[in-house]
Amino acid sequence: MVTIFKGRRTTPLQIAVLLCAGAFTLQAQANEALANKSGCLGCHAVATKLVGPAYKDVAAKYAGQADAQAMLMQSIRNGSVGKWGELPMPAHPKLSDADLKKLATWVLSAK
Ligand code: HEC
Repeated sequence: MVTIFKGRRTTPLQIAVLLCAGAFTLQAQANEALANKSGCLGCHAVATKLVGPAYKDVAAKYAGQADAQAMLMQSIRNGSVGKWGELPMPAHPKLSDADLKKLATWVLSAK
């Protein structure tokens, strides 16, 4: 009931939690924008297989694998073929290490 909350103040902890949630959402959106800008989303989606595998399937396949991030950075930079099917992924030599890292981390966090 509303009256229960009357006079209760928002604590600093509650504000911190809200800010973190907001920052997390913004970060996720920034990564998606980067993937879009880099042309990834023409072939990939988070939840469905398009030309390439769904990012959530990639995340599931490599879950718990310690070198997954470095390995995916290589796959994205140099291209990949034969891991998911017949179709190859082209190389992306122009992406910076920082962007490759963001993309690999984002893909591995897909659910
Ligand atoms: C022309 C279509 C195409 C584009 C553009 C593309 N991909 Fe792919 N991607 C694929 C295909 C096809 C595969 C499966 C390759 C295989 O079987 O080894 C794949 C595989 C992957 C994998 C899994 C690699 C592995 O080692 O298992 C990741 C991660 C990935 N792509 C991320 C990206 C990112 C990030 C971008 C944008 C920079 C991107 N892809 C752009 C088609 C594409």
